[in-house]
Formats: sequence, C-alpha cells, structure tokens
Amino acid sequence: MSKPLVDQHGRVVRDLRISVTPRCNYACFYCDPLGEGAKDPIGTISVEDVDVILTAAVELGIESVRFTGGEPLLRKELPEMIRLAKKKHAIEDVAVTTNASLLARRLPDLFDAGLDRINVSLDAADAEAFREATGGGTIQQVWDGIHAAEEAGLTPIKLNAVVVRGINDDQLLPLAELTRDRAWHVRYIEYMHLNNAEPEAYRERFVSGAESRERIETVYGSLEPVETDPSAPARLFRVPGFAGALGFIDPVSNPFCGACSRMRVTSDAKLRPCLLTDREYSMREALNADDPLPAVIDAFLVAAHRKVASGITSPVTRDRTMVAIGG
Ligand code: 5AD
Repeated sequence: MSKPLVDQHGRVVRDLRISVTPRCNYACFYCDPLGEGAKDPIGTISVEDVDVILTAAVELGIESVRFTGGEPLLRKELPEMIRLAKKKHAIEDVAVTTNASLLARRLPDLFDAGLDRINVSLDAADAEAFREATGGGTIQQVWDGIHAAEEAGLTPIKLNAVVVRGINDDQLLPLAELTRDRAWHVRYIEYMHLNNAEPEAYRERFVSGAESRERIETVYGSLEPVETDPSAPARLFRVPGFAGALGFIDPVSNPFCGACSRMRVTSDAKLRPCLLTDREYSMREALNADDPLPAVIDAFLVAAHRKVASGITSPVTRDRTMVAIGG
C-alpha cells in the first residue's frame, strides 16, 4: 500500500535519482570545480542503504529510479542496486545516467539485473573535441557502449549535451548529424550555474536553447516538432528526413519547476528536494537506526514538504556542485 509523496505545491514526487558515487573518470569543466569527485568518502551509500531507501520510496509511490553519479558505472555494486530496484522492489522504470566509457564491458551485467534505459552524457561528437571536453576521454569507447545498449534494446538512446560557449558549441551540428541515420535522441541542455563559475564568465558561456536551435536551423532549415510528453523537460524536434530526434532542455531560460516530480539522493545519503537549491536532509542517522525504514520514510516526508516552488537559476554561490549532487 503506497501513499503518494505530495509537496506543499501540490506536485507529486514520482522520480528518484540516486547518486551512487561522486567519483568520475572524466573531468568535464563544469562538473567538479571543488574537487569533490576525488574519492568515495566514508558514508557513501551502500547496497544495504539503497535497499532501505528503495523500500521507503516504493511505500511512498515512487515509480521511477535513475542511478547517477559521478560516474555510476565506477561502482562495482551498481548491478546489485539495479537488481534490487527492478526485481525486489518492482520499480517500473529503472535507468542510469552514464558517460558510457565503461558501458560496453558492463552492459551484460546491468541488463541482466533489469536495467530499462540509459542516458548518455555526450558533449561532443568529434573525437578531438570530445577528448578536450572530457579532459582526456576516448570517444570510441562511448560509441561501443552506445551500440551495445542499442543491441540490448535499451531504446530510445538518449544522448545529453550541455552546450557551453567556447567549449563545445562548435559541436551543435556534429551532434545533430548523429540523428541522420540513427533513431537516437540528441538533447541539448542549457548550462546551469552549478559550478560556482564567476557570474560574468558564466553568462558569457551560457547558450540558450533558442540560440542552439537557431544555429541548427540556419544549416538544416526549420525543425519539425515531434510529439512530446508535455510533462517531460525536453521539447523534441526532427531534422526533416532524419531518423532520430533533437531535444532542447532549457532549465534556465524556461524552467520546468512547475512539473517537477523529482527528488535526489546524494552519494553521501542526503535527500535533496531541488537540484538548484542548496537544501539537503541527511538520512545517515535514519539509515543507521535499528529500525531504519520508518525513519527513512520520515526523512522523505520532511524533504518533500520542503521542496521549493522553483529553483535558483541565477549565478549564486553553491555549497556543492554537480559531481557531488548527482545528475
Ligand atoms: N548544467 C547542465 N547540465 C549539467 N550536467 C552536469 N553539470 C551540469 C550543468 N552545470 C549534466 C551532465 C550529465 C548530467 C548528469 O548532468 O552533463 O549529462
């Protein structure tokens, strides 16, 4: 018997994102400015923690779970966590957000555990631009991972690019080209101020979804709208005649807080009701209690109650940055 988790603004929390590590094998410039991703600190959530968190989540009506990081595939227990979500707790939709560098090798275990979907972070499509954007990544490993996922039927493959002026905005078109022959979704995401960049530098680097779209349309002509779930953050389009889709996710110019159904668990076991607000509620004591479940459920209720109506998109100093919060 589940009772829905409703916040003070009438929004129902249905989607849980669990960051399983702050570590990452890439060094994308916007993600880890404070060096929080160097190692798994003591208190990083364990498989047992995840089991209790999922029990509470199901009790509270959560329908979808996404494992994130850092880079979640660096956690060797990730398949166990997915298996718990899918097979023990029967979560309808179990997904992972990954840079895909280790995916080809690990996909069989993840798939066997019950993984339904993946999102791949891919900020560039050309090998050299990719190497620069990721601080040394090899794009071929990512292609191998994506193809493995496609063969396993984890479709549609969603590729997410954070567009940053002077870093990868020259990749708008190479990324769009990926959708010519393949039914992939390339989604352009507006760069959020989650890395404590200097406000002026941030504003110079920011590229709106409208600008990205305009620059793509200058080359390909008008994009065709593709029918989209109105509550989903991405507006989808297609280059006429192309197999895949282009999505625009505009959290800064067009925030979707009104439709937010998310809650995050950081890798150090804190509930974070809003990505863009420094407010977190530790579950560590609750998880360590003799009877953790009621305490963890309580933590969820408190965090949901404190979910703000809208997040702060302007450049303010944040306590934590993306690698530590979880994507
Ligand atoms: N703005 C927008 N997206 C970001 N991500 C990380 N940092 C930012 C940011 N500042 C994205 C990553 C990845 C996902 C986990 O979050 O590129 O796709």
